[in-house]
Amino acid sequence: MILFQSTSDLRSYISEQKAKNLRIGFVPTMGALHAGHLSLIKIARQKCDLVVCSIFVNPTQFNVASDLETYPRPLSNDIRLLSEGFCDVLFNPSVDEVYGNDFTKDSSDDYGSFIHLLEGASRPGHFDGVITVVKKLFLLVQPDEVFFGQKDYQQCLVIQTLIERNFPFINFNLCPIARENNGLAMSSRNVRLSKEEFELASDLFKNLTHILTNWKENAWLDALLEARTFLSKKPFELEYLEVCDQFTLEPLKAFKPNAIALVAVQLGKTRLIDNLLLKPTL
Ligand code: PAJ
Repeated sequence: MILFQSTSDLRSYISEQKAKNLRIGFVPTMGALHAGHLSLIKIARQKCDLVVCSIFVNPTQFNVASDLETYPRPLSNDIRLLSEGFCDVLFNPSVDEVYGNDFTKDSSDDYGSFIHLLEGASRPGHFDGVITVVKKLFLLVQPDEVFFGQKDYQQCLVIQTLIERNFPFINFNLCPIARENNGLAMSSRNVRLSKEEFELASDLFKNLTHILTNWKENAWLDALLEARTFLSKKPFELEYLEVCDQFTLEPLKAFKPNAIALVAVQLGKTRLIDNLLLKPTL
């Protein structure tokens, strides 16, 4: 695996690879890699000739300073995992290399009303920071295929909109959520959970599954309310649990066959999100 820290070195390397007509796959991350990130690399490996991963803890997408400061950064372990996972290129720039002195954020305001719902409402400015950095990275890496996890479903909708508008030649890949044995969605922030919290956190997936099991015209609303009541009890601080349209993220007013359940809670010091696509079971 080749490691680049400088944008100009990466830029010249990419133009050499482009000249060879290689299909470039890109997996942007903030590091503290786990099996979820590595599953994205694996899918990229199958589809592309050259797999590029970035590790960059992007300051402009954090709206809580302490979250940015305490974000885990186990770089040497990440490098080992990526080499073992057959990643070809790692881009790990400094903040200065990416932003210089200009921290101006792109605005996601006109991306559609979904931008202000759920994570958009809970984390003001977050998606502006995400599109700012992802746009810079796409311009640099010039990927043919990009790979994002369904774990951050709303982020996927944001990136799909960015691609439609600015990078129509990039192919977007939505990759499944990797979970712990107890159902908890893997996340770099899970290291902050105590042993007890880790066990309790499996209730998120259990309650999403409860909604899926009852995904029928006459049962879904009761199941949603039951799941909300369950997760409103201590020690969870429920931020939202909604069943929404898969594209607009508007909360469903009436049953429709395809939808998505999304949840966010604060558990102790850790904020957790998860989701589950809802479709009729046979
Ligand atoms: P990060 O949280 O590091 O996630 C990088 C990618 O891994 C995202 O596409 C995310 O959805 C995916 N991912 C995280 N947990 C996953 C899991 N359990 N299963 C499958 N995929 C998972 O998302 C970001 O970084 C940043 O916002 C970024 C896009 C890099 C921009 O800074």
